[in-house]
Order: sequence, then structure tokens, then C-alpha cells
Amino acid sequence: MLTAESIAVDPPAEGEIVDPVAWFDTPGSFELEIGCGKGGFLLDRALANPGVRLLGIEWANKYYKYCADRMARRGVSNVRVMRTDARFFVMNHLRPGCVDVLHLYHPDPWPKKRHHKRRLIQPDFVDAAVRVLNARGRWLVQSDHAEYFQEMIDLLSSHEGLAEVPWEEAEASSGPGWQGTNFEIKYVREGREIHRAAYVARA
Ligand SMILES: C[S@@+](CC[C@H](N)C(=O)[O-])C[C@H]1O[C@@H](n2cnc3c(N)ncnc32)[C@H](O)[C@@H]1O
Repeated sequence: MLTAESIAVDPPAEGEIVDPVAWFDTPGSFELEIGCGKGGFLLDRALANPGVRLLGIEWANKYYKYCADRMARRGVSNVRVMRTDARFFVMNHLRPGCVDVLHLYHPDPWPKKRHHKRRLIQPDFVDAAVRVLNARGRWLVQSDHAEYFQEMIDLLSSHEGLAEVPWEEAEASSGPGWQGTNFEIKYVREGREIHRAAYVARA
């Protein structure tokens, strides 16, 4: 029987390089969602795509626990959840070339200028994220924050390891009844515009 404990994965030890597919009993490609929150996207994508292995990383303990418990209750065997800082994990622990799709939806915008240095998307993180993508790996980014989105796509679009592709072409949306991530649903209700971009690693 699936339990939250069997869905949850401990962060790697210091200096350890991991290949997350070893944590799954099911075969398939490997996708990573950074900042999975309550796990709405993770759950829907896992149910709609049993041939995909998904790892959600979440820093906030209460959302991480909620998410692991939710996956266990729904019996999804192709998801794992880890509580850690995704920036540190990607930059220091993930085996290069192991990610087929990287999902990054509504990363915290840290709107005050003095907090911009806390933003996930920085040049060193983008370099590391490109390194962990496989030869035709995809990276999808979505945000409601126009200024942060522009900063992100400026960095991603000018990166020599990435080429922008139409969002629809990236084919990494969720199931047919998909309504959006938790934050997307909230912001669409408020009438905010949602910005999206998709990239493929240059082989
Ligand atoms: C604005 S929420 C978006 C949640 C979800 N992606 C959605 O669209 O509904 C951002 C999430 O990223 C998590 N987060 C922020 N920085 C993180 C980091 N460095 N590593 C892992 N999770 C992080 C936050 O705790 C939060 O749950």
C-alpha cells in the first residue's frame, strides 16, 4: 500500500550525486516540478501520464507533507516528493542530463527590489538547470508576475543551451480536464494575465 512515507524521499547527503529514477518502481521518462506547492499539477500530470516518473520539490514543510499525503491517498505510484531547497538540489545533487521535462510554475516573485536576490531564476541556477536537462529536454515556465517573467525569459532565451519553442509544442500540460495549478486558478479568478514560455535543450 502506498503511504506518504513511501512517496517522500529524503534529500541527498552532502556531496552525493543522485539519479532520481532509482527512487521509482515504475518505468518511464523523468520530470521534475520545482515548487510543487499542494501538488495539484503533479497529481493531475501523474494520473494522466502513468508512463512518466515525476519528482516534486517543495521547500515549505506544510505543503510538502500535504502533497505527499495527497499522492498516497490517490494511489499514484509514479510520483515522489522531496522537501529541500530546489536551487541547492539542482545545482549540487542532480545527475547531469537526467531530466526530460522541468516544470516551473509561479515561482515566488519576491516583488521588492531588495529581495530580488532571493529569486530562484539567477544566471548560475539557469546554467545548472540546463545541465540537468537531457539532450532534447524541455523546460516550461509560467508566471503571473510580468516583471519577473520578463527577467526569466530574458535569461532563458539568451542561453546558448536553450531554444524557445511554442508552449503547445512542448506538450507538457496536464490531463484533459486540467484547470491550472493552484496559483494559476487563483490568479485567473482575479483576472491576472498568465505568462508562459517553453524551451528545448539544444542537442
Ligand atoms: C507561488 S507558489 C506556486 C506553487 C505551485 N507551483 C502553483 O503554481 O500553484 C511557489 C512555491 O514554491 C515553493 N518554493 C519557493 N522556493 C523554493 C525552493 N528554493 N525550493 C523548493 N520550493 C520552493 C514555495 O514554498 C511555494 O510552495
